Amino acid sequence: MSSIPKILVTGANGQLGSELKKISNSYPQYAFTFLTKDQFSLDDTERIKEYLKSNWFDFLINCAAYTAVDKAESERELAYKINATAVGVLAASCRDNNIKFLHISTDYVFDGNAKEPYKVDDQTNPQTVYGASKLEGERLAMDVNSDAIIIRTSWVYSSFGNNFVKTMLRLFQEKDEINVVNDQVGSPTNAGDLADVIMSLIASGQWYEGIYHYSNEGMISWFDFANAIKKMSGATCKINPISTSSYPTPAIRPAWSVLEKRKIQQHYGVQFKNWEDSLNDCLYEIKNPE
Ligand SMILES: NC(=O)c1ccc[n+]([C@@H]2O[C@H](COP(=O)([O-])OP(=O)(O)OC[C@H]3O[C@@H](n4cnc5c(N)ncnc54)[C@H](OP(=O)(O)O)[C@@H]3O)[C@@H](O)[C@H]2O)c1
Repeated sequence: MSSIPKILVTGANGQLGSELKKISNSYPQYAFTFLTKDQFSLDDTERIKEYLKSNWFDFLINCAAYTAVDKAESERELAYKINATAVGVLAASCRDNNIKFLHISTDYVFDGNAKEPYKVDDQTNPQTVYGASKLEGERLAMDVNSDAIIIRTSWVYSSFGNNFVKTMLRLFQEKDEINVVNDQVGSPTNAGDLADVIMSLIASGQWYEGIYHYSNEGMISWFDFANAIKKMSGATCKINPISTSSYPTPAIRPAWSVLEKRKIQQHYGVQFKNWEDSLNDCLYEIKNPE
């Protein structure tokens, strides 16, 4: 039997899952298994238990999640099933089968009313069903598997999947003028950078359990972000700043989504790429698909 460590990645077709797949060739010391929603559904907890019992893995990176923030307001049960119950089952199965469990969470566990970057131990207070379901997932995972690592991140985008960057690029083509909120501030995260960080954590050979924060460096509003995308892509569409109150959504968006990242830097020596450099990388990838 090969002794090469095995990594299972769930949610393989999502932004983060796709980025992990993209960099997996750079890690020949690991054998990766990427499973999509169709191949490994978090809806079926009995199958999760059975699969992890009968297949040998050393690490499980859970990139699968219910991420439809607005829809979650009317699909509470489903959001909790995927983001909470299933995460608890994954974490327990990993514990039972000696698999290191690495899970991803969100800035939405906070209420967004802070004025300083959120520390990992700051009081959580989710304002949305999505945020509450993700927080419950964190809690269930930590309750049953104290060895788990959870990385909270924010404003994720990628050349894969659907996200703000790709929406802006589409709207720049379709419209002469658009409105973007300027009173929500956060730190964008290129999913490719997060994938690199996850793999560097695993490859470090050190496993320090607990909750971490990771995003790219810098804080901006969605309006600033849209303008940077416009500038870097050479678009000419006019972008008007608007307030959150004039753009109502079913789920409340946090006004402040800045995460304090000292812990991941201290434990793993993670360096943070500036959001502008990372955006530039992503736009290049979108323009020059492999
Ligand atoms: N996107 C953000 O801005 C953001 C911000 C903070 C934190 N996060 C967290 O970061 C992680 C990765 O997010 P992402 O942006 O990569 O999300 P994503 O692109 O929406 O990917 C999520 C993946 O999960 C899959 N999935 C959904 N329901 C599932 C189920 N029942 N069983 C198995 N797989 C299922 C989806 O499959 P289908 O596509 O086939 O539905 C998709 O491939 C998530 O934990 C998310 O909560 C994201």
